[in-house]
Amino acid sequence: MRRYQLFGPGKLEATAADVPEPGADEVLIRVRAVSLNFRDLMVFGGRYAQDGVREGLVPCSDGAGEIVAVGSRVDRHAVGDRVACQFMPRWQGGPYEEIYGASALGGGADGMLAEYVVAHQDGVVQVPEHLNFAEAATLPCAAVTAWNALYGGQPMLPGETVLLEGTGGVSLFALAFARMGGARTIAITTRAQKRDRLLALGADAVLAIPETEDWPAAVRSLTDGRGVDHVVEVVGGENVALAGQAARNGGQIHLIGAQSSGQIDPTPLRRRNIALRGIYVGPRTQFEAMNRAIAHHAYRPVVDRVFPFEAASDAFAHLRAQAHVGKVVIEVGAA
Ligand SMILES: NC(=O)c1ccc[n+]([C@@H]2O[C@H](COP(=O)([O-])OP(=O)(O)OC[C@H]3O[C@@H](n4cnc5c(N)ncnc54)[C@H](OP(=O)(O)O)[C@@H]3O)[C@@H](O)[C@H]2O)c1
Repeated sequence: MRRYQLFGPGKLEATAADVPEPGADEVLIRVRAVSLNFRDLMVFGGRYAQDGVREGLVPCSDGAGEIVAVGSRVDRHAVGDRVACQFMPRWQGGPYEEIYGASALGGGADGMLAEYVVAHQDGVVQVPEHLNFAEAATLPCAAVTAWNALYGGQPMLPGETVLLEGTGGVSLFALAFARMGGARTIAITTRAQKRDRLLALGADAVLAIPETEDWPAAVRSLTDGRGVDHVVEVVGGENVALAGQAARNGGQIHLIGAQSSGQIDPTPLRRRNIALRGIYVGPRTQFEAMNRAIAHHAYRPVVDRVFPFEAASDAFAHLRAQAHVGKVVIEVGAA
């Protein structure tokens, strides 16, 4: 089978390997599509973990495919099931623990950019029937993170207002999940040319940062001076202070992004009773709850562009250019 491995920053190489055999509790998945996340750019550039990226790592956390063989003790899945792997296969439910992070695909453990992978049966989730493989491959990281933000803690309520930042994977899933739950949505974007796309995707109001430099003030005006109930914060660093200015007293900022570094002054947030909630993707229970919502609403993830397996490096370059709207996908072994 073919797969990709990283041999140093930016050194993505196609290599050959034997098709792996599933152990007793494992399934063998024929991967049909892989989707990229901002995190994969960090791994690609050797900037992800403090101790670097392991030489020979198979990158990418997110993929979907069909089960083609099962181990002798597998009782959760069967041959033919259409599935996606979890970002952290060991996190089944409950609060996050450090050991789950070590199991993260395409980070601590080998990822999905291969024609076949084996996975523990508990780290694999059935995908909604109406999704094709490219769409299903977008779910494990960005979608579960967005779901966790809005429903994994003190959940969003109908009629509340949610602020989304940009047009990337996490933000567009959060836009969809906020709408499913009856919230009002305000989106900001750094690129004015993406405004119409956000409106077409259902955002109730869109602010383009180049034209609206003081966007927190504009968000407050759009909420009669009150501020938003939730901020899905995908930028990080100094942007957290701006998110705080856009949030209402007692609102929630869901801390997700690592695109920018910088210190947070907690004082204004403390004074205004704003809760900062750290998010690291989410457990299996949330992935399954999210899939039920996606199936019920027949929601189709926004796929920006699909690249062939042979052009995987071009897919990374496309995501790096940040001109995308939604998810960038690599097709694997198209039949
Ligand atoms: N904590 C977690 O578990 C977790 C999980 C998933 C992702 N993340 C992090 O979340 C971030 C987004 O991930 P992703 O995969 O969704 O990335 P992505 O698809 O590459 O999207 C990033 C988007 O961020 C927007 N953006 C950048 N700077 C902005 C700013 N100053 N204000 C508003 N929007 C801005 C851009 O949208 P426009 O072009 O429209 O401005 C860009 O398209 C990354 O830092 C990633 O590492 C964390």
